[in-house]
Amino acid sequence: MSVSVLFVCLGNICRSPTAHGLFQHKVNQSGLADQIIVDSAGTGGWHSGAAPDERAQSTALDRGYDISHLSARKVVRDDFTEFDYILAMDNDNLSHLLTLKPVSYKGVLGLFLDVAGADVAGTTGNKEVPDPYYGGQAQFQMAIKLIEDGADSLLARIRQEYEL
Ligand code: 4NP
Repeated sequence: MSVSVLFVCLGNICRSPTAHGLFQHKVNQSGLADQIIVDSAGTGGWHSGAAPDERAQSTALDRGYDISHLSARKVVRDDFTEFDYILAMDNDNLSHLLTLKPVSYKGVLGLFLDVAGADVAGTTGNKEVPDPYYGGQAQFQMAIKLIEDGADSLLARIRQEYEL
């Protein structure tokens, strides 16, 4: 029995690879790498094949997470047969995913921070991880902080739900 989680943003070079790398790290540390499958993708394909944005890489590395090995890809319809959780970083990503979702999809499709049950007090409160791409260091710091809280909450939720 395994559980699979796909993190989705727009370009798959900033937010979702950060979530992918952080969550994978936490899964590994919990000894659950065989039971929880992790991946990420973008609703847009402009950066397919690219490594994470340098700013995302350095923000993650500063916190002890190496995400340099990850490579961007676009969301495909098969993701709805492969993944139990498909988690969007913002409402635009979620709207796009809802247009792709087959009616037969039985998994959880929602906003990452919402599904994770993360406490996002102090942010806009709408449970989005805002796009840092056109921002500066502050936006990347804000994104990784939200993602780290979300990853912890999501892992706790999945462990409880699947008794892992
Ligand atoms: P991400 O950030 O969705 O967090 O990967 C972006 C990356 C690239 C672009 C926009 C957002 N772009 O417009 O190329």
